[in-house]
Amino acid sequence: MNEQPSGNREPGLTLAEARAYLEAGMDKLPGMKILYGHPSPRFWEPCALPLPELLGHANAQRPLSLYLHIPFCPKTDPPACGFCQFARQDLTSYGLAKGYVDDLLGEMGQHADTLGRRETAVVYFGGGTANILRQAEIARLMEGVHRRFRLAESAEINFEGYPQFFTQAQVRFLAGLGVNRISIGVQVLKPELLRFSGRAPAPARIRAAIELCRKLGIACSADLIVGWFQQTARDVIADIDTLHAWGVTGIVIHPIGLQGNSCFAREKDKLPKVEDSCRTFLLARERLLELGYRADSYTDYQKADLPPVKFLSLYRNVLSNDKIGLGYGANSVLAGDLAKPGVTFVNVSGLEPYHGRVQAGKGCAEAYFRFAAEDLRLLYVLKGLEGEPYLDAGKYEQLFGTGLEADFRGCWDALRERGWLDWPAGEGPRLKGDAIFLTAHIQRMLSEPRNRQLRRPGRG
Ligand SMILES: C[S@@+](CC[C@H](N)C(=O)[O-])C[C@H]1O[C@@H](n2cnc3c(N)ncnc32)[C@H](O)[C@@H]1O
Ligand code: SF4
Repeated sequence: MNEQPSGNREPGLTLAEARAYLEAGMDKLPGMKILYGHPSPRFWEPCALPLPELLGHANAQRPLSLYLHIPFCPKTDPPACGFCQFARQDLTSYGLAKGYVDDLLGEMGQHADTLGRRETAVVYFGGGTANILRQAEIARLMEGVHRRFRLAESAEINFEGYPQFFTQAQVRFLAGLGVNRISIGVQVLKPELLRFSGRAPAPARIRAAIELCRKLGIACSADLIVGWFQQTARDVIADIDTLHAWGVTGIVIHPIGLQGNSCFAREKDKLPKVEDSCRTFLLARERLLELGYRADSYTDYQKADLPPVKFLSLYRNVLSNDKIGLGYGANSVLAGDLAKPGVTFVNVSGLEPYHGRVQAGKGCAEAYFRFAAEDLRLLYVLKGLEGEPYLDAGKYEQLFGTGLEADFRGCWDALRERGWLDWPAGEGPRLKGDAIFLTAHIQRMLSEPRNRQLRRPGRG
């Protein structure tokens, strides 16, 4: 096995650097897992490339994962539910949603003109709030998807949304259109806690939606947030037990991410201490495993008798699928391969700029990053640390021609010193203990040498 770090790579962190990096993140919230994979959008460049040039990196042999972004949300006080990090805006008039769906269909057509009618393994309607749309707009979008893409027989069709809007009529309608998985943004169930976000409590609606999904035979997952204002471990465990009793097929536990000027970021004194959120997160994980859920990633838990959620497997396996994001603020990843690394790009945000770009017909990307082989290696490692399928040292060596242990030795040793790393013989590294909660911080540590390189003027 080649134990030498290869080519023009920056040397990995030394043990001392890795120790210091870990230490510096210990008293901070790790944030949500890497939103755009690697590298951070601060290293991306403004994009003036025409869409066909970006899509030239697509690979028709790979499964396609299609993401449709619906940016609209109900208005809350505080704004954006007090914590939200996504590209979104309040829906002030339903006419805006109708016009936006026209644009989304336009952008879909522009992609299909270049990609052809690609076989599609996953469709994900997310947001914002996908289920704020009315039936007519949802049906138009679904019809567009079928017309422009060829859905695989086993395609997974996900629909994400806000609890109040998942009425019985809406769930039945979605199931009738072929949606086979819904994801409900529960966040917290206790009304005294929920009120910090200005979200409307809807426990009866959540319960009824979960029960209906069960009857209709579609998967139903619920998002929870750990680290919410004044939240205790007992609150999270109670939410998990309740959702389990109602019959969810999956639960996601997001460590809270605090962005810029959000209400939650401003009023930090109401947050639990970081070490308490870490403990709560690990207790929640333990509870989910006890109740018979399988960890498909450190945040995503599914009933163990169900197959892995496809969009997660594809998300993790970025080197073997193409992801196309449509809509404002949507992200696409066409990773390419080591011989010809591809690109990741993000669409312009805001209704007007997005509309203008769709009308001009030249593509909506506002920023992009051209991967180097080193970025593909990092993407593979960072995502492989999040969960199944975990990193496998043998596969890594086959793919990249170097040793996984040697390439990141300082980081692995710093994790071992803290008792945070397992490396089952013949397999690969797995985070354990507090490191599971700190996954996003550890991902940043692993990518630090490459980030240093990218920060350099006239970078290599
Ligand atoms: C696009 S959002 C929401 C779906 C829907 N609009 C809702 O609010 O119910 C998807 C999920 O991301 C999570 N999320 C959003 N912002 C977050 C943050 N700052 N920290 C942790 N999780 C967050 C929430 O759990 C949310 O349900
Ligand atoms: S959490 Fe959901 S409803 Fe709230 S602002 Fe974010 S996307 Fe919109």
